[in-house]
Amino acid sequence: MKVTPYEHSSETKKKQVEQMFDNISGNYDFLNRSLSFGIDVLWRKKMMRELKGIEINKLLDIATGTADVAIAARKLKPGSIIGVDISEGMLAVGRVKVAKKGLNELIQLQRGDSENLPFEDNSFDAITVAFGVRNFEHLSKGLDEMQRVLKPGGKVVILEFSRPRIFPIRQLYDFYFRYFCPWWGKVVSKDNAAYRYLYESVSAFPEGDQFLSIAEKSGFKQLNAQRVTFGIVSLYTGIK
Ligand SMILES: C[S@@+](CC[C@H](N)C(=O)[O-])C[C@H]1O[C@@H](n2cnc3c(N)ncnc32)[C@H](O)[C@@H]1O
Repeated sequence: MKVTPYEHSSETKKKQVEQMFDNISGNYDFLNRSLSFGIDVLWRKKMMRELKGIEINKLLDIATGTADVAIAARKLKPGSIIGVDISEGMLAVGRVKVAKKGLNELIQLQRGDSENLPFEDNSFDAITVAFGVRNFEHLSKGLDEMQRVLKPGGKVVILEFSRPRIFPIRQLYDFYFRYFCPWWGKVVSKDNAAYRYLYESVSAFPEGDQFLSIAEKSGFKQLNAQRVTFGIVSLYTGIK
């Protein structure tokens, strides 16, 4: 069964996801920092370490949202960074952050669908996606597109929520994600559904080896999955 943000909507998952992120865009950064106690910043730094030492001319950050990963990627000293997202609301917040940091020359944010990327084949040296793949309507299509626009030998780094396995972390995590996050998300963003969708979409997401086998079908090689912070998130890497 497909997990979508708004149970009673007849729109596609993609449209609903776009609408949800447009709705919460103004509160997204605050909710992220407060719900993760700031650990999300460390997770994005860990992503960057996976790309250290690689010569990157062009970097693509898919589902860039408010551009935190795109901004963090400046440390890699790439020639250029493009961030794509389907939510104009999220991109608008991101554009303000990029401008404030004086990064307009380096980072370009544009609207685009991960399942139909507006780029030529073999365009990028590296691709990053943080907390994006879980929201794709068709995961394989999104991975096929990453494979298409990545240069041969290029690297993809994907960060996504997973579920801890050990007692009592799993139980605490389930309580936190199932009850606390939706409550806090509703208080702050006034969107009843957004943080309920977070729990449901994480529960339904094919994590670990399951994710790797889907990525393998898209043609990625040297695939690796790493569980981080008790498995609250997983870091996936692969090479074209
Ligand atoms: C949880 S946010 C993550 C944002 C950012 N990467 C971060 O780490 O904070 C997920 C983002 O994925 C975007 N998204 C979902 N489906 C997408 C698609 N098909 N194409 C492009 N972006 C998509 C949403 O609009 C949203 O901004």
